[in-house]
Formats: sequence, structure tokens, C-alpha cells
Amino acid sequence: MAGKLIGIGVGPGDPELLTVKAVKALRMADVVSVPKAHSDVSSLALGAVRQILEDRQDPPELLELVFPMTKDKSEIERVMARNASAVADRIDRGKVVAFITLGDPMFYSTFVYLFEAMRRHYPGVEIEIIPGVTSLTACAATARLPLAEREEVVAVIPSEVDKCEVEEISRHADSMVFMKCARRFKELVTVLKRSPFEKSTVAIVRRCSMPEERVVVGEVAEAEGWELPDDYFSMMIVKRRDAEKERGDVV
Ligand SMILES: C[S@@+](CC[C@H](N)C(=O)[O-])C[C@H]1O[C@@H](n2cnc3c(N)ncnc32)[C@H](O)[C@@H]1O
Repeated sequence: MAGKLIGIGVGPGDPELLTVKAVKALRMADVVSVPKAHSDVSSLALGAVRQILEDRQDPPELLELVFPMTKDKSEIERVMARNASAVADRIDRGKVVAFITLGDPMFYSTFVYLFEAMRRHYPGVEIEIIPGVTSLTACAATARLPLAEREEVVAVIPSEVDKCEVEEISRHADSMVFMKCARRFKELVTVLKRSPFEKSTVAIVRRCSMPEERVVVGEVAEAEGWELPDDYFSMMIVKRRDAEKERGDVV
């Protein structure tokens, strides 16, 4: 059988949030590749699929790929070329390599780096992508905070977006989702207090769907007084309560 790479989104952490397609792929993959920021950090993605792998009669090879937390482009390219080579070597030998990633593979995922490197260095390799439940929708569900309805606009804001840009985006969005920026929650709440989101509902979800899950929902005005998590696996969602009225689009 011809080898291939499968990018598998394993959802936000709860093994019950894996798709049927993801489970099937994990039961037959020859190699399961696990992303790690540093080799000593245990992988949450692996935690979500551990039982499926342990239940197998023929355990797959575990291939650990290190993704350095750096902005140095040449360092990223060098490491990704090495990761792509390790994957391509197995695919060459007819193996199916499943790369697991939290949430969805095409949404702020380390898989995107591997995907681009494979396309650049090994353009003939078949790549399949199995979408996963994103932390974005999982956190909204846990917080009972609808992300969007009718004509509402959702803005997703990652860690490096500066305060001025957040202020500008806040003038156009009905809800905003802050990812990868737990360290900045306090600063961002201050920005929101001076924005059209001043009288909005805010939810902070830490480790959604995992045993350590914590959720706080309240008003932007009171959020400054909260003890905010400095946990990378956290998300902040704000939703304007007046969005529907302002757009005047009752259906
Ligand atoms: C590199 S992004 C990965 C996004 C992922 N590919 C997805 O589709 O959800 C990492 C960020 O996603 C968010 N995140 C991922 N899993 C989470 C979870 N279980 N609970 C809360 N936030 C989570 C956090 O904001 C974290 O900083």
C-alpha cells in the first residue's frame, strides 16, 4: 500500500471529541507523529488519543517531532526540513504517518508547518487532512456563549496583535476570540473596557474539555478583578450584547 501523511485534528482534549474518521485513521496508521514544543513537554494531543493507541494489537511507531518556539525563520525552515525528511522517509517505505494535533490541523496548528514543508520538499507525497473540533467552538460551547448568529462578524485574534489593532478590530466585530495570549488577558480586558465591547459578556475558558477545565463568564467591566489564568491553553471570548440591535437584522 502507498504511504501517505494524514493530518488529524484530535479536538480540544477530551477523547470523546475525536471524530469517527480520526479514530479510524488512528487505528490503522503505521506511525503516529506527535508534535512537541520542547522534547520534555508531554503532549496533550497524545493524551487525547492514548487509549486508542493502547487498545491496538499492533502499536504504531511513535515519531516525536520537535517544533521549536522561535520566530527565527531560517531555524524554523531547518527544523521543518528535518521533520519533513523523517516523515517522508517512512512514507517512502509505504507507511501511513498520522500527525496528531490539538483542535483542527488547519487552524493555528503546528501541522501547517509540516504541511508546507512536505509540499515544498516532497510535492509528490499524498496528504490527507481530517478536521477536528476546534478549541474555538469547544470553548464557546463550554461557556454557553454563542459565537455568531445571523450577520455577526467574528474576529479571531492571536497573541502578537497589538493594542491599537485590537481597538481597531473591536470597532468592526460582534465577537472577538483571543487565542495564544493568556499572558495578556489583563491588558486586553483594559483595552476592551475602552472599546465598543465595554458592556459585553466575556468568557475565559482554561483547558476546555480537559480534567483541569475552568470557566469564568461575566461582564467585561468586572473582569479586571478576576484572577486570570496564565495558562497557554486558555481562551478569552467577548460578545457584544447590542450586536443584534445595531445591525437591525432580526430574522
Ligand atoms: C496553537 S493554537 C492551537 C489551536 C488548535 N489548532 C485549534 O483548532 O483549536 C493554541 C491555542 O489554542 C487555544 N486552545 C487550544 N486548546 C485549548 C483548550 N483545550 N482550551 C482552551 N484553549 C485552547 C489556546 O488559546 C491556545 O493558546
